[in-house]
Parts: sequence; C-alpha cells; structure tokens
Amino acid sequence: MLLRIAAFRHLRRWAPVLPLLVLLALGCTPEHYPQTALKPLSDFARIGDDIQNKTLYWAFGVFVLVEGALVYAVFKFRGKPSDVEPQQVHGNTTIEIIWTVIPALILAAIAVPTVKGIFQTAATPTGDALKIEVIGHQWWWEFRYPDLNITTANEVHVPVGHTVSLHMRTADVIHSFWPPRLAGKRDVFPNRETRLWFKAEAPGEYPGQCAEFCGIQHGRMAFRVRAQSADEFQGWVSHMQTLGPKPAKAADTPRADSVRTASAGAAVQGPGKAGGDSSAAAAAAQDPAYAAGEKLFLAKGCVGCHSLNAVDAPKGMIGPNLANIGARSYIGAGSFKNTDETLARWIQNPQAMKEGVLMPNLGVKPDEAKALVAYLRAHQ
Ligand code: CUA
Repeated sequence: MLLRIAAFRHLRRWAPVLPLLVLLALGCTPEHYPQTALKPLSDFARIGDDIQNKTLYWAFGVFVLVEGALVYAVFKFRGKPSDVEPQQVHGNTTIEIIWTVIPALILAAIAVPTVKGIFQTAATPTGDALKIEVIGHQWWWEFRYPDLNITTANEVHVPVGHTVSLHMRTADVIHSFWPPRLAGKRDVFPNRETRLWFKAEAPGEYPGQCAEFCGIQHGRMAFRVRAQSADEFQGWVSHMQTLGPKPAKAADTPRADSVRTASAGAAVQGPGKAGGDSSAAAAAAQDPAYAAGEKLFLAKGCVGCHSLNAVDAPKGMIGPNLANIGARSYIGAGSFKNTDETLARWIQNPQAMKEGVLMPNLGVKPDEAKALVAYLRAHQ
C-alpha cells in the first residue's frame, strides 16, 4: 500500500509533463501520422507552416526570457528566515507600461506574417489553375472537374506542380475540407462558395478529413488526395473520359457504359493496344458474376443513388459516384480499405459499418454481394 502511494506520488509529479512528452513523440514520427500539417507539401501549406514556425520561435524566445528571469529571481532573491519584511509596493507605472508594450510589439510582429498569409491564401490563383468543384455530403465528398467533364468521389486526383483551384460548397450541412499536408481547413456552406487552392509538390496519396462536426459519421468523412505527375494525371483524365454514359465510337466498345478494367486506363495502356478497352470489356462481360452483378445493380435500385458515369455525371445524386470505384483505395469515404471482402460486407450491411449513412440495408444476400463486387471491381 505504502509502495503504491509512493508510486502514485511519483507519477503525479510527472503528470504535467506527460502530455508534453506525448506531443513530442507524435511530432517526432510524422510518417506514422500522415494526416499532419507539420510536413507541408504545397505552396499553400508552407504559408501556414511558416507562420506557425515563426510564432513558435517567438514563443520560445519569450519562454526562455520569462522563465530565465523567474528562475534567476527565485535564486538571487531567495529569502532567509532572518530577513526583515521587504518594502511593500503597490503599482509601478514604468513596469506596467513596459509589460504592456512588449507583448503588444510581439503581437504586432506576429501579425505581419499572419495578415500577409491571410491575404496570400485568400487570393484567387493566377494562371491556368485547374478548377475542381468540391461538394460536401453527409458523409462523403464529391469532386467534379467541370473543364474536363469528369466526376469522382472521395479520392481527388491532382497534378503535381500545377495549381488546383477548389470551388467548394455542400449539399446539406456545413462541412470543412481539410487536406493537412496540402492546405489549411476551409468550411463549406450550402449557399456560399468558398475557395481553396494549392500546388502539390510531390506525388503521393495524402489523407484528408472533414473538420467540422456534421453528424454522427463526421469522423468517417475522410478523403484522399492523389497527387500524380503531369503524365500520370493526364493518363487518369483520359481514362476517366472514357467512362461515359455512351461510347464515343459504338463499334469499339459495345458495352462502354459499364465495363472498365485497369488495362483500359490510358496510364497503363501500352502502345499498340488500342483495342484494350473492348477486349477487356468483352472479357469482363463474359464473366457470369459480372453479368449477374450488372443485373443486380439495376434490380436492387443502386442506380437510383449511384452513377457509374465519370463523364456527364448527373448532379445532385444522393450517393457517391462509382465510375472508378474498383480502383479506389478506400470505401465509405476513407473509412475502410477497398477489398472485395469489405466491399461485400458494405453492400450487405452498410449500417453496421457506418451507422446512420444514407445507404439502407437492401437485403443483399452473400452470393448477390459477390456478384455486385465483381461488377463494381471491374469499374476501374
Ligand atoms: Cu462533414 Cu464533418
């Protein structure tokens, strides 16, 4: 018992330091916490990071000076029992002016880069920025590229070294779009457009998160930013532009409304494989599971909420666009790895995985889910 009390006292002494140690530990290993603003990877993110660093240096300087003076005073003027009572003072105009003016000057100094940063980040990007419309939904993200006429959901592709201009709003409640490594938070509203822009510096897949409480699944309203080299991005765009409601050349792709596989992607399609799309389409169409899934997708009413068209995608759909669902890393808006197993589970019981989500349980049986997975997986 005594030992335990002693141990508790020992712990209590260190309690104030523990949160600091945890923070330090988190700061030391950003690769384990990829959703961090401390490792900026775009011009926009660097503006915020620079201001944060400058403020931190100022705060550190203030801390050292104040604590140094305090520690110095504690030891230098330590009282002894034999000391007479010191002279009692009340108020000192000079000191009060000094300790009011110094913080005011520090705040003014911090305000200079802060205000500059606010204007920089609020400015409209110049040049040929790529316009992307971001629409928040409970609880997923819609991304539309109006100039490229393609739409996707939950995983936004951006070119490295090229500014993207996000024009953002929401279909329902207020959300907040936040890709920490690439940009700061920006709220999205139903009746007002907000903007965000950034130029990604390195290819990669960066997580982002809704940062405004928007209902019970706010925590599962994540997304991914896939930054790609200019060539890769162009390949992705070209591929997405084949995922339309009607094939451009009916003879080439008789079932182009539905069938896409990785081999059909321009990014991975080798030269001299112009027929890749139609042969892949034919192969997938011959898969009985695929055909069964296609039928189920209509019969179960999936089409009522989800579009499979990246091109000319209808606006105002309740559910996420699924044109390239087979190629996405996550389902459920960044919540679950996109494997056949999780996709099948989701189709059968979305409410068990993300309670409150608008997709109801449709009474899909395991073999039907398997067919639907085969169908959706072919939508790369
Ligand atoms: Cu959307 Cu929180």
